[in-house]
Amino acid sequence: MHTQVGIVGAGPAGLLLSHLLHLHGISSVVLEARERAYVEQRVRAGVLEQGTVDLLAEAGVGDRMRAEGLRHEGIELRFDGEGHRVPMTDLTGRAITVYGQQEVVKDLIARRLADGGDVRFDVSDVKVSGVTSESPRVSFVHDGTTQELVCDVVAGCDGFHGTTRDSVPDGVLRTFERTYPFAWLGILAEAPPAVSELIYCSHERGFALYSMRSPTISRLYLQVAPDADPADWPDERIWEELAARFALTGSDWRPTEGPIIDKGVTPMRSFVTEPMQHGRLLLAGDAVHIVPPTGAKGMNLAVNDVRLMARALDSWFSTGDDSLVQSYTRDALHRVWRAQHFSWWMTSMLHRFDDGDPYSHRLQVAQLRNVVDSEAYATALSEHYVG
Ligand code: FAD
Ligand code: PHB
Repeated sequence: MHTQVGIVGAGPAGLLLSHLLHLHGISSVVLEARERAYVEQRVRAGVLEQGTVDLLAEAGVGDRMRAEGLRHEGIELRFDGEGHRVPMTDLTGRAITVYGQQEVVKDLIARRLADGGDVRFDVSDVKVSGVTSESPRVSFVHDGTTQELVCDVVAGCDGFHGTTRDSVPDGVLRTFERTYPFAWLGILAEAPPAVSELIYCSHERGFALYSMRSPTISRLYLQVAPDADPADWPDERIWEELAARFALTGSDWRPTEGPIIDKGVTPMRSFVTEPMQHGRLLLAGDAVHIVPPTGAKGMNLAVNDVRLMARALDSWFSTGDDSLVQSYTRDALHRVWRAQHFSWWMTSMLHRFDDGDPYSHRLQVAQLRNVVDSEAYATALSEHYVG
């Protein structure tokens, strides 16, 4: 079987790449380890930068996002029992859209299949070989038989736990990494959000985030121990902890409660692998970089990578000029490292570090006060947040 681009992974990166390539008349096959229902239900990110929204709309996959997505023009920073609004749109002219990652994934799968795209779910034993030759190969098992794709290029979009990164020989890639001494416990609840904008809350008991998916579904997160077990967090304990962290001085305000329909723990990590390519293997999204979710950047970075990759491959296949392919790593890394810095900054400013250092905590509060009292700081935060 021959295809121009063999894509490993049907997350936002792999699916959007396949769709963008299709718009340029370039063939691809997407190989996904999980079943379709699983990737469509997996609850993850929720904030789309304006550039991501614009790209999805221009690519013709934004109708439902435009109808159901929630446009937000500000966020709240809550600390010392007080809320402070950061008016992002007033400061930057841009906004974010709250629309679940799994909804983006559903829209992309539906569109690929409607366009006759080749997306294979439930494949196993994916192996990439020959990436420094002119026809790299991807072998895999599907429906019990081993098959092989012969490609012009292989795109590794298989996330942090994927295997494509491992097909690069030892000594080529350099990894930059930081782990944080905490994780996030995330819940999805059938409860109308008590707020109209996201709240990033710094509290001595730990960080908390109030987000949402729709007018009836809330998405909330709590900073927890890195080895936290969701079984130790029965629903009542979660609601109590959320109420304690979001408490406003002199008010009995608290999050609206409702049945919890999803619960999971996400580790916090910063990670970059350079370069993002080797021979005819190009890597994108979580396969090559991870950010802690405090900056809401993970999915947006994945989208930006494949935007650059599709443009580079279009230029190469249509004119024979591979300069954009050669500069793919350099072009993508600019945003990757700025997002690394922003996500690290938000994480450091808002979380409780159990280092017993009261000086550090005072610095965090001073930093938060800068952001809410200074238009220059607030604008800088907003520019990064909206993208
Ligand atoms: P992924 O979405 O990980 O997609 C990779 C795909 O490849 C998956 O479908 C996987 O099943 C498939 N795959 C893996 N290995 C193989 C293989 N060997 N063969 C074939 N297919 C394979 N970001 C935020 O901004 N906010 C959040 O709240 C947030 N929560 C997250 C929670 C979790 C548990 C994780 C892992 C990430 C979270 N992120 C969050 C980050 C964001 O979801 C990612 O940045 C985004 O999913 C990246 O998209 P991607 O397509 O690069 O990778
Ligand atoms: C989410 O809605 O899931 C979400 C929002 C903002 C973040 C992270 C996650 O920073």
